[in-house]
Amino acid sequence: MSRILTGVQSTGRPHLGNILGAIVPAIELANKPENDSFLFIADLHSLTQVKEPKFLKENTFQVAATWLACGLNPHSTTFYRQSDVPQCTELAWYLNCYFPYQRLKLAHSFKDKSDRLEDVNSGLFAYPMLMAADILLYDAEFVPVGKDQLQHLEMTRDVAARINHKYGDIFKLPEAIIQENTQLIMGTDGEKMSKSRNNTIDIFESEKQIKNTINKNITTDNTPLENPKDPNSSTVFKLFDLLASTKNSNAMRDSLLAGGYGWGHAKKELIEEIINKFSVQRQKFEHYQNNPSEVEEILQNGALKAQKVAQKTLDRVRKNLGYN
Ligand code: ADP
Ligand code: TRP
Repeated sequence: MSRILTGVQSTGRPHLGNILGAIVPAIELANKPENDSFLFIADLHSLTQVKEPKFLKENTFQVAATWLACGLNPHSTTFYRQSDVPQCTELAWYLNCYFPYQRLKLAHSFKDKSDRLEDVNSGLFAYPMLMAADILLYDAEFVPVGKDQLQHLEMTRDVAARINHKYGDIFKLPEAIIQENTQLIMGTDGEKMSKSRNNTIDIFESEKQIKNTINKNITTDNTPLENPKDPNSSTVFKLFDLLASTKNSNAMRDSLLAGGYGWGHAKKELIEEIINKFSVQRQKFEHYQNNPSEVEEILQNGALKAQKVAQKTLDRVRKNLGYN
């Protein structure tokens, strides 16, 4: 069995791009019986940017409910909130004290964020050591991450190796599994779907809101209804093609090419496809929205499992460092 661990930041409700590009593949990996999976919501990392308690809470709930609605099995995966495992912040402090300031200064993510953000706090600077603690605390062997997180993984290995060098093998050195984006989902404007571009599709919205998003935000040309239309230059068709069966997608392509079939028809089919394809996920999400205490209970059970593993590691570290 391999121990796989990954964290997701709680920055609000995930969109279709996040779900198809990151969440569904991660759930497939987590649900494999040969993996012992840990998946957590990195709400302490979020504090570097989100200072409103209400948003912090709400974002965590939205992210947790999305993962559960998309099929994460909390019985086989240890699913928890980072802030419920205080062992993590204690370990992060130890790691900070063993990692050179000069090395931390080289973090790309800090440079990026400190150029962009108004609030450049010390937490943002120490971010990689909190992430290292997330990983080392659970003896994770494999960490699936996007390319942008690779340097953080290198820092994790580096700080672990420094401590191991001094005290013997306290930590397992984790390996990154780089998630190449096999599928880049386009947004309503035809560019990569992203929160920052305002081009997202939210599969958990009401039917009416989804209709509005598709009808208002996807622009189409004004080819008359009866004329043939080019499917390949259309965002409506490309999104439909991504979601629908080959048969249905071919049928829409043929209709567009034949003429007598308008963008309004195509949009209507796309809206129906989104609602139908994600009907189970939408129902589950709504269920959690109406029963938030169920999500809370799942996260608290996950925290109990995580804390047990975390405390063992922390005892080992404390003993070696001279704190027992
Ligand atoms: P956003 O760009 O909306 O801020 P994030 O950067 O928070 O999204 O991405 C979270 C995860 O979702 C990452 O693993 C990222 O690779 C994936 N992801 C985001 N947008 C897309 C997309 N349009 N297509 C595929 N995957 C995506
Ligand atoms: N920094 C990661 C991101 O922004 C989230 C994260 C926090 C994480 N701790 C982690 C990912 C530990 C993997 C392992 O995506």
